[in-house]
Amino acid sequence: MKIAVLAGDGIGPEVTREAVRVLEALSLPGLALTYADVGGVAYHRTGHPLPPETLEIARNSDAILFGAVGDPACDSLERHLRPEQAILGLRKELGLFANLRPARVFKGLEDASALRPEVAGAIDLLIVRELNGDVYFGEKGIRTLADGRRQGWDMMSYADDEVRRIAHVGFKAAQGRRGKLCSVDKANVLETSQLWRDVVCEVAAEYPQVELSHMYVDNAAMQLVRNPGQFDVIVTGNLFGDILSDQASMCVGSIGLLASASLSEGTLGLYEPIHGSAPDIAGQGKANPMATVLSAAMLLRHSLGLEAKAAQVEAAVAKTLADGVRGADLGGSHGTVAIGDAILERL
Ligand code: IPM
Ligand code: MG
Repeated sequence: MKIAVLAGDGIGPEVTREAVRVLEALSLPGLALTYADVGGVAYHRTGHPLPPETLEIARNSDAILFGAVGDPACDSLERHLRPEQAILGLRKELGLFANLRPARVFKGLEDASALRPEVAGAIDLLIVRELNGDVYFGEKGIRTLADGRRQGWDMMSYADDEVRRIAHVGFKAAQGRRGKLCSVDKANVLETSQLWRDVVCEVAAEYPQVELSHMYVDNAAMQLVRNPGQFDVIVTGNLFGDILSDQASMCVGSIGLLASASLSEGTLGLYEPIHGSAPDIAGQGKANPMATVLSAAMLLRHSLGLEAKAAQVEAAVAKTLADGVRGADLGGSHGTVAIGDAILERL
């Protein structure tokens, strides 16, 4: 059980430390952790946000526990040297194409949501976000037009095989849940989305038990706050998935609670909280580590096949919340380590 721990920037190291304590408390036989630099920290030490040694360690692991990348001191660097390139590079180099971002309201947290409690209480959805394509990885640049105006441009595209493989992930996930899949696109405007929709419809023929619907992304953003309980699994592209998953996190109550798994065609996966490096609170011991602990649970489930252990960790987090332990993100006063301690006690 070789786990690469890439804690990264900002609050990454603090929250990752608590998730590692949880993994170690499970006394898994053969658990071996290897730490490596990534993001702004790696740039400052080695001149690159994703040093080759880090990529090799990640490639040779069974799973990667990832904290966060992002450092305001790096914002004016050339794009390929910015910390964000590390996570994009890992996703691409390791073929981590399927991003699972579950969002559900924990019992007792209905009031934390930006939505009315009765609306929030019904949230139990999974966003399946494509992670290797779309406008994220297309050609891009800033050019000067003949008339002297500067123009920024980014190429959006999806090939049919890219859509097909993520569609299969979406349908299979729906089969294992409530049997409903909503494909989100912008087919009324974008050709990329038209192809997306056509391919999802083709794949649907293989999953007659799954009820498929399509929704434009603007409507999906609206429905997520109007009636989020209608969603079971949402499958969407890289950019729309990025936006909708942040939105879903606030529907749940806090971005400090949302975990994610980025999966390849094999068992290798990368597990990270969706919240990012939060430089404004870094190093203060107030970040909520729950999203990272829940990401470690997904690691146990998807890369190590330890479903019972995963469920045990998730239950410990749920119990911690039910007992009233709250980080600053939820209006409480528990710090990072105190939350970690509380989870460990219940584990
Ligand atoms: C996420 C993040 C990343 C993304 C950034 C850090 C590049 O927002 O994982 O959602 O846009 O995918
Ligand atoms: Mg994001």
